[in-house]
Amino acid sequence: MSNRIILPRLMEVGAGASRKTPEILAALGCNNPLIISDPMMVKLGYVANLQTVLSEAGVDSDLFADTLPEPTEASILAGVAKVRDGNYDSIIALGGGSPIDSAKAISILGKFGGQMRDYKFPRDVSEPGLPVIAIPTTAGTGSEATRFTIITDADKDEKMLCVGLGFMPAAALIDYELTLSAPPRVTADTGIDALTHAIEAYVSAKANPYSDSQALAAMRLIGPNLRRTYHQPDDREAREAMMLGATLAGVAFSAASVALVHGMSRPIGAFFHVPHGLSNAMLLPTVTAFSLDSAPERYADCARAIGTALQSDDTATANAKLVAELRALNQELEVPSPAEYGIDEQRYFELRATMAEQALASGSPGNNPRVPSVDELIDLYAAVWHQQ
Ligand SMILES: [Fe+2]
Repeated sequence: MSNRIILPRLMEVGAGASRKTPEILAALGCNNPLIISDPMMVKLGYVANLQTVLSEAGVDSDLFADTLPEPTEASILAGVAKVRDGNYDSIIALGGGSPIDSAKAISILGKFGGQMRDYKFPRDVSEPGLPVIAIPTTAGTGSEATRFTIITDADKDEKMLCVGLGFMPAAALIDYELTLSAPPRVTADTGIDALTHAIEAYVSAKANPYSDSQALAAMRLIGPNLRRTYHQPDDREAREAMMLGATLAGVAFSAASVALVHGMSRPIGAFFHVPHGLSNAMLLPTVTAFSLDSAPERYADCARAIGTALQSDDTATANAKLVAELRALNQELEVPSPAEYGIDEQRYFELRATMAEQALASGSPGNNPRVPSVDELIDLYAAVWHQQ
């Protein structure tokens, strides 16, 4: 039995890595990039900094900075048209998960045409689009090191999972200095997303020795540092650990897939426009409690790697500590309940069956240690509402 691992061809990791963009472009044989980003990155000056670094190296770049959070197909069409009409040899994706996911989709649609739903799971998209150089500014979705992108089908309010070698960036520049300005809410939501990636990769039915090693390393980095970055945004040591942890968590779940939290999270995000990391955070304690008994040793390993359980704790103790820690983390990081976030209770309960169907169809719940039935999923959505 063997496992296929897909990684970026190049990773530049550490302080100032993003300033190496011209060298990375040259190494890939590219010199005519399109930068894909969002209005916030323009406002913060990150796009201008990147363009300066490129122009100083004699590289002209063009810009599409209109990507949206939780991207829809409509939101990327102007970017796709730019790629079709332009003569770009590469895409530089600068921002959080949404610009990077948008860039991956634009890379494929711009080169091969069609609609995003043509490329959704279970299709395996192995076509090479324009090479993407991903520069994440959050720690994070791990999108810089995954073979996935998520684009929302706005007609159906469905987050489409798209999978394949074609969505793996050619290069990833992992520069924690870009996360120093992330506000606490973004730090918390993206950090819990990264933690969820590591836990879900480790308990996934598709876990393997390679993904395990990356997931455990990610948990050891994220566990002691998530609170630090939330309370002390300028804690460089904690930011560096979180950034590397988020990328390793991305590598882990790209090789092992995510599971029930992500499966249930996407419909909440699509119907109620909850940021991805936040809907994961709302789900993580309840879904972990539901799943524990089907993989107690694995969850105990997670508790020890995160640092909430002692190496000497037995499995049951470590499991109890894990659920308690996930609840405490949500409290300390001020994660709202679905009601506190402003989700309409009646609509949420009306949509439970639809959300359960969409969750199952995504394939992710099938990787969970305990695979829920439709009825159990509907009950779980209720339990999440009541934060049980
Ligand atoms: Fe995620």
